[in-house]
Amino acid sequence: MSYIELSNLSFYYRKGKALFDNISLTFNLGEQVGIIGRNGAGKTTLVKLLIGMLKPQKGTISIEGSSIKNKSIADVATKVGFVFQNPNQMLFTNTVEKELELSLMRFELSKEVKQSQVNKILDFFDMDELRTMHPRNLSRGEKQKLALATVLVQEPQAIILDEPFSGIDMTQRLLIVKYLNELKKQGKLIILVSHNLDLILETTDKIIALKEGKVAYNVSIVQFFQNSEHLKEIGLIQTDYLSMLKSLKKYGLPNEILKKDDLLNFYKESLKI
Ligand SMILES: Nc1ncnc2c1ncn2[C@@H]1O[C@H](COP(=O)(O)OP(=O)(O)O)[C@@H](O)[C@H]1O
Ligand SMILES: [Mg+2]
Repeated sequence: MSYIELSNLSFYYRKGKALFDNISLTFNLGEQVGIIGRNGAGKTTLVKLLIGMLKPQKGTISIEGSSIKNKSIADVATKVGFVFQNPNQMLFTNTVEKELELSLMRFELSKEVKQSQVNKILDFFDMDELRTMHPRNLSRGEKQKLALATVLVQEPQAIILDEPFSGIDMTQRLLIVKYLNELKKQGKLIILVSHNLDLILETTDKIIALKEGKVAYNVSIVQFFQNSEHLKEIGLIQTDYLSMLKSLKKYGLPNEILKKDDLLNFYKESLKI
């Protein structure tokens, strides 16, 4: 049994114009899955279906084997955390600490346990010194981190991020990449929607490529990126980094080397440095 299962799912916004027509997908704990595709391909809609914000007209979505059909969004959120694209939509209180406490409000936990979860998450994100800051006064990247923290403090086994890298600088992006890799080590399922292919490459090991509501590819990143036609087919453009990898392959770089760290290690090995 997979952690999340979509079976024979169909969905439309307007009758007669199906966006998804009978798609099935599974997501397992420990996986990092990138969902890619052009604007309008259906990425955000798929995510909203996964968290119960939209209901399919046909088919079922199950989490840990039970259908989410009659579950509230808040119930689903304890199993699958969701980080909105715009962190301002998620922040409601006047300090970072209260924001995190608010996320734990629905849980029947003792004050001590709540406090320790808040401390743990502040530590994980190196945000301890921001504890008493007003969320409004945080930088965009810090807000993004806080939004992610408000989801993670609930300790869901799976998290979904929709375009988490937009509008933040490179340093903050790399930090989020670091945290995502850390979460993978903890065995969580991470589903990342992004049009930033370089960051998808750094953070995921599986790709679901959508094209006009169809699952065009559901393969490992190695299988997906080994052929640049795949990208073309779903209407996305090769990045500079991907073109560089392609050139290096002509000189013997193995297909499975995609991530920057692996690339570096490969050349360190071959140069014996
Ligand atoms: N609330 C809505 N009502 C009607 N159509 C919508 C709505 N949201 C999205 N769509 C349409 O559904 C399709 C998929 O959109 P979306 O899931 O947002 O794609 P993506 O996130 O890949 O850009 C698009 O054609 C879009 O115009
Ligand atoms: Mg979208």
